[in-house]
Amino acid sequence: MAVGPSALNILHPRPKVDAVLHGTSLAPATMNNAAPRTNVVGRVFTANESPPDQKIPFHHEMAQVPTFPAKLFFFCEVEPKSGGETPIVLSHYVYKRMKENFPEFVEKLEKHGLIYTRVLGEGDDPSSPIGRGWQSTFLTEDKSVAEERAVKLGMKLEWTDDGVKTVMGPIPAVKWDESRGRKIWFNSMVAAYTGWKDARNDPVKAVTFGDGSLLPADVIEACGKILEEECVAVPWQQGDILLIDNWAVLHSRRSFEPPRRVLASLCK
Ligand SMILES: [Fe+2]
Repeated sequence: MAVGPSALNILHPRPKVDAVLHGTSLAPATMNNAAPRTNVVGRVFTANESPPDQKIPFHHEMAQVPTFPAKLFFFCEVEPKSGGETPIVLSHYVYKRMKENFPEFVEKLEKHGLIYTRVLGEGDDPSSPIGRGWQSTFLTEDKSVAEERAVKLGMKLEWTDDGVKTVMGPIPAVKWDESRGRKIWFNSMVAAYTGWKDARNDPVKAVTFGDGSLLPADVIEACGKILEEECVAVPWQQGDILLIDNWAVLHSRRSFEPPRRVLASLCK
Protein backbone atom coordinates (compact mmCIF):
# COMPACT_ATOMS: atom_id res chain seq x y z
CA MET A 1 0.00 0.00 0.00
CA ALA A 2 1.48 3.33 -1.03
CA VAL A 3 -0.42 6.59 -0.61
CA GLY A 4 0.34 10.08 -1.87
CA PRO A 5 1.76 13.17 -0.15
CA SER A 6 -1.65 14.38 1.02
CA ALA A 7 -1.66 11.66 3.66
CA LEU A 8 0.83 13.55 5.79
CA ASN A 9 1.97 17.14 6.04
CA ILE A 10 5.36 16.80 4.43
CA LEU A 11 6.54 20.14 5.82
CA HIS A 12 6.71 18.62 9.31
CA PRO A 13 6.82 14.95 8.52
CA ARG A 14 8.71 13.39 11.40
CA PRO A 15 6.47 14.29 14.37
CA LYS A 16 3.47 13.59 12.08
CA VAL A 17 4.74 10.10 11.35
CA ASP A 18 5.18 9.49 15.06
CA ALA A 19 1.70 10.91 15.72
CA VAL A 20 0.12 8.78 12.97
CA LEU A 21 1.67 5.69 14.53
CA HIS A 22 0.35 6.71 17.96
CA GLY A 23 -3.11 6.85 16.45
CA THR A 24 -2.96 3.27 15.19
CA SER A 25 -3.17 -0.01 17.05
CA LEU A 26 0.39 -0.76 15.96
CA ALA A 27 2.56 -1.19 19.08
CA PRO A 28 6.28 -0.40 18.76
CA ALA A 29 8.71 -3.29 18.38
CA THR A 30 12.37 -3.19 19.41
CA MET A 31 14.95 -2.42 16.72
CA ASN A 32 17.52 -5.13 17.09
CA ASN A 33 19.08 -5.96 13.76
CA ALA A 34 22.15 -5.44 11.66
CA ALA A 35 21.29 -2.21 9.87
CA PRO A 36 22.89 1.10 10.80
CA ARG A 37 19.96 3.39 11.74
CA THR A 38 19.46 6.74 13.45
CA ASN A 39 16.63 7.58 15.84
CA VAL A 40 14.72 10.50 14.27
CA VAL A 41 11.92 11.12 16.76
CA GLY A 42 9.92 8.91 19.12
CA ARG A 43 9.66 5.47 17.57
CA VAL A 44 10.73 6.63 14.12
CA PHE A 45 14.16 5.67 12.77
CA THR A 46 15.91 6.12 9.46
CA ALA A 47 15.65 3.03 7.27
CA ASN A 48 18.93 1.19 6.68
CA GLU A 49 21.59 3.83 5.96
CA SER A 50 23.90 1.47 4.08
CA PRO A 51 25.68 2.87 0.99
CA PRO A 52 23.39 3.92 -1.95
CA ASP A 53 25.29 1.89 -4.56
CA GLN A 54 24.67 -1.34 -2.63
CA LYS A 55 21.33 -3.09 -2.86
CA ILE A 56 19.96 -4.68 0.27
CA PRO A 57 18.96 -8.31 -0.38
CA PHE A 58 15.50 -9.78 0.37
CA HIS A 59 14.78 -10.43 4.03
CA HIS A 60 12.04 -10.54 6.60
CA GLU A 61 12.81 -7.89 9.18
CA MET A 62 14.74 -9.57 11.99
CA ALA A 63 14.00 -13.11 10.75
CA GLN A 64 17.12 -14.33 12.51
CA VAL A 65 15.90 -13.47 16.03
CA PRO A 66 13.02 -15.15 17.92
CA THR A 67 10.97 -11.96 18.36
CA PHE A 68 10.39 -10.01 15.19
CA PRO A 69 8.05 -7.18 14.16
CA ALA A 70 4.72 -8.13 12.53
CA LYS A 71 4.38 -4.86 10.60
CA LEU A 72 6.87 -2.39 9.12
CA PHE A 73 5.85 1.20 8.59
CA PHE A 74 7.89 3.21 6.04
CA PHE A 75 7.61 6.90 5.15
CA CYS A 76 9.46 8.65 2.30
CA GLU A 77 10.81 12.00 3.51
CA VAL A 78 13.11 12.61 0.52
CA GLU A 79 12.49 10.69 -2.69
CA PRO A 80 15.44 9.13 -4.52
CA LYS A 81 16.84 10.89 -7.59
CA SER A 82 16.60 7.51 -9.30
CA GLY A 83 16.20 3.87 -8.23
CA GLY A 84 15.87 3.03 -4.53
CA GLU A 85 12.63 1.05 -4.92
CA THR A 86 11.47 -1.33 -2.20
CA PRO A 87 10.76 -4.70 -3.86
CA ILE A 88 8.44 -7.09 -2.00
CA VAL A 89 7.73 -10.78 -2.64
CA LEU A 90 5.14 -13.19 -1.17
CA SER A 91 6.84 -15.62 1.22
CA HIS A 92 4.43 -18.54 0.81
CA TYR A 93 5.05 -18.40 -2.92
CA VAL A 94 8.83 -18.47 -2.45
CA TYR A 95 8.39 -21.53 -0.19
CA LYS A 96 6.20 -23.24 -2.80
CA ARG A 97 8.67 -22.65 -5.64
CA MET A 98 11.68 -23.72 -3.54
CA LYS A 99 9.87 -26.91 -2.48
CA GLU A 100 9.01 -27.72 -6.11
CA ASN A 101 12.54 -27.07 -7.37
CA PHE A 102 14.66 -28.31 -4.44
CA PRO A 103 12.60 -30.80 -2.39
CA GLU A 104 15.62 -32.42 -0.67
CA PHE A 105 17.18 -29.11 0.23
CA VAL A 106 13.90 -27.81 1.68
CA GLU A 107 13.42 -31.05 3.63
CA LYS A 108 16.87 -30.66 5.22
CA LEU A 109 16.19 -26.98 5.88
CA GLU A 110 12.91 -27.76 7.64
CA LYS A 111 14.57 -30.51 9.67
CA HIS A 112 17.66 -28.60 10.84
CA GLY A 113 16.89 -24.88 10.49
CA LEU A 114 19.71 -22.38 10.08
CA ILE A 115 22.57 -20.99 12.17
CA TYR A 116 23.50 -17.33 11.61
CA THR A 117 26.96 -16.10 12.60
CA ARG A 118 27.90 -12.44 12.53
CA VAL A 119 30.90 -10.54 13.83
CA LEU A 120 30.04 -7.12 15.30
CA GLY A 121 32.71 -4.44 15.61
CA GLU A 122 33.51 -1.91 18.33
CA GLY A 123 31.16 0.97 17.43
CA ASP A 124 29.13 1.46 14.23
CA ASP A 125 30.66 1.16 10.77
CA PRO A 126 28.53 3.16 8.30
CA SER A 127 30.55 1.82 5.34
CA SER A 128 29.01 -1.63 5.93
CA PRO A 129 25.38 -2.68 5.32
CA ILE A 130 25.63 -4.79 8.48
CA GLY A 131 27.70 -2.20 10.29
CA ARG A 132 25.99 -1.89 13.66
CA GLY A 133 28.56 -2.34 16.41
CA TRP A 134 27.81 -4.41 19.50
CA GLN A 135 27.03 -1.34 21.61
CA SER A 136 24.18 -0.11 19.41
CA THR A 137 23.00 -3.66 18.67
CA PHE A 138 22.53 -4.42 22.37
CA LEU A 139 21.90 -0.78 23.40
CA THR A 140 24.60 -0.81 26.10
CA GLU A 141 28.30 -0.08 26.64
CA ASP A 142 28.50 -2.87 29.20
CA LYS A 143 29.62 -6.30 27.99
CA SER A 144 27.81 -8.18 30.76
CA VAL A 145 24.52 -6.38 29.92
CA ALA A 146 25.12 -7.25 26.24
CA GLU A 147 25.55 -10.90 27.32
CA GLU A 148 22.24 -10.88 29.20
CA ARG A 149 20.40 -9.34 26.25
CA ALA A 150 22.00 -11.79 23.83
CA VAL A 151 20.84 -14.75 25.94
CA LYS A 152 17.28 -13.40 25.86
CA LEU A 153 17.49 -13.37 22.05
CA GLY A 154 18.79 -16.94 22.06
CA MET A 155 22.20 -15.74 20.89
CA LYS A 156 25.67 -16.83 22.04
CA LEU A 157 28.51 -14.30 22.21
CA GLU A 158 32.26 -14.89 21.80
CA TRP A 159 34.29 -11.75 22.55
CA THR A 160 37.34 -10.92 20.44
CA ASP A 161 39.96 -8.12 20.63
CA ASP A 162 37.99 -5.80 18.37
CA GLY A 163 34.37 -6.89 18.71
CA VAL A 164 32.21 -9.92 19.28
CA LYS A 165 31.12 -12.99 17.30
CA THR A 166 27.39 -13.63 17.61
CA VAL A 167 25.95 -17.08 16.96
CA MET A 168 22.19 -17.45 16.57
CA GLY A 169 20.40 -20.71 16.18
CA PRO A 170 19.66 -23.23 14.98
CA ILE A 171 16.36 -21.49 14.28
CA PRO A 172 13.58 -22.50 11.86
CA ALA A 173 13.87 -21.22 8.27
CA VAL A 174 10.27 -22.05 7.37
CA LYS A 175 7.40 -20.88 9.56
CA TRP A 176 3.72 -21.64 9.76
CA ASP A 177 1.58 -18.55 9.20
CA GLU A 178 -1.31 -19.32 11.53
CA SER A 179 -3.52 -16.47 10.35
CA ARG A 180 -3.37 -17.60 6.72
CA GLY A 181 -2.87 -21.34 7.24
CA ARG A 182 0.23 -21.74 5.09
CA LYS A 183 3.98 -22.31 5.25
CA ILE A 184 6.20 -19.31 4.61
CA TRP A 185 9.81 -18.83 3.61
CA PHE A 186 10.85 -16.94 6.72
CA ASN A 187 14.61 -16.61 6.85
CA SER A 188 17.59 -14.45 5.92
CA MET A 189 19.39 -17.21 4.05
CA VAL A 190 20.03 -15.40 0.75
CA ALA A 191 20.57 -12.05 2.48
CA ALA A 192 23.17 -13.45 4.87
CA TYR A 193 24.89 -15.62 2.27
CA THR A 194 25.19 -12.82 -0.28
CA GLY A 195 25.11 -9.69 1.85
CA TRP A 196 26.77 -10.26 5.23
CA LYS A 197 30.05 -9.24 3.81
CA ASP A 198 32.41 -6.64 5.24
CA ALA A 199 35.87 -6.38 6.75
CA ARG A 200 34.76 -8.63 9.62
CA ASN A 201 32.43 -11.12 7.93
CA ASP A 202 32.75 -13.89 5.33
CA PRO A 203 29.20 -14.43 3.98
CA VAL A 204 29.71 -18.12 3.16
CA LYS A 205 30.19 -18.78 6.89
CA ALA A 206 27.47 -16.30 7.94
CA VAL A 207 24.71 -18.86 7.48
CA THR A 208 24.83 -22.68 7.60
CA PHE A 209 22.38 -25.53 8.12
CA GLY A 210 21.48 -26.08 11.76
CA ASP A 211 23.76 -29.13 11.88
CA GLY A 212 26.71 -26.91 10.88
CA SER A 213 26.99 -28.15 7.29
CA LEU A 214 27.55 -25.60 4.52
CA LEU A 215 24.72 -24.46 2.25
CA PRO A 216 24.94 -25.31 -1.48
CA ALA A 217 25.86 -22.14 -3.41
CA ASP A 218 23.81 -23.12 -6.48
CA VAL A 219 20.60 -23.43 -4.46
CA ILE A 220 21.18 -20.03 -2.84
CA GLU A 221 21.72 -18.54 -6.28
CA ALA A 222 18.53 -20.16 -7.60
CA CYS A 223 16.59 -18.90 -4.58
CA GLY A 224 17.91 -15.38 -5.27
CA LYS A 225 16.58 -15.67 -8.85
CA ILE A 226 13.14 -16.83 -7.64
CA LEU A 227 12.97 -13.82 -5.31
CA GLU A 228 13.76 -11.45 -8.18
CA GLU A 229 11.35 -13.14 -10.59
CA GLU A 230 8.38 -13.06 -8.23
CA CYS A 231 8.84 -9.61 -6.71
CA VAL A 232 7.03 -6.32 -7.26
CA ALA A 233 9.19 -3.20 -6.83
CA VAL A 234 7.48 -0.29 -5.07
CA PRO A 235 8.91 3.10 -6.19
CA TRP A 236 9.10 6.05 -3.76
CA GLN A 237 7.71 9.57 -4.04
CA GLN A 238 8.04 12.13 -1.30
CA GLY A 239 5.25 11.69 1.26
CA ASP A 240 4.53 8.03 0.40
CA ILE A 241 3.69 5.60 3.16
CA LEU A 242 4.23 1.85 2.84
CA LEU A 243 2.89 -0.56 5.42
CA ILE A 244 4.46 -4.01 5.07
CA ASP A 245 3.16 -7.23 6.62
CA ASN A 246 6.40 -8.84 7.78
CA TRP A 247 4.73 -12.30 7.86
CA ALA A 248 3.40 -12.09 4.29
CA VAL A 249 6.32 -10.68 2.33
CA LEU A 250 10.07 -10.40 2.18
CA HIS A 251 11.41 -6.95 1.26
CA SER A 252 14.64 -5.52 -0.10
CA ARG A 253 16.04 -2.19 -1.31
CA ARG A 254 17.41 -1.41 -4.74
CA SER A 255 20.49 0.77 -5.19
CA PHE A 256 19.80 4.45 -5.84
CA GLU A 257 21.18 7.85 -6.72
CA PRO A 258 21.12 10.09 -3.64
CA PRO A 259 19.46 11.80 -1.98
CA ARG A 260 16.90 9.37 -0.52
CA ARG A 261 15.56 9.39 2.99
CA VAL A 262 13.04 6.79 4.07
CA LEU A 263 11.96 6.63 7.71
CA ALA A 264 10.94 3.37 9.36
CA SER A 265 9.09 2.17 12.40
CA LEU A 266 8.77 -1.45 13.41
CA CYS A 267 5.48 -2.57 14.95
CA LYS A 268 4.38 -5.63 16.93
FE1 LIG B 1 14.50 -4.37 6.20
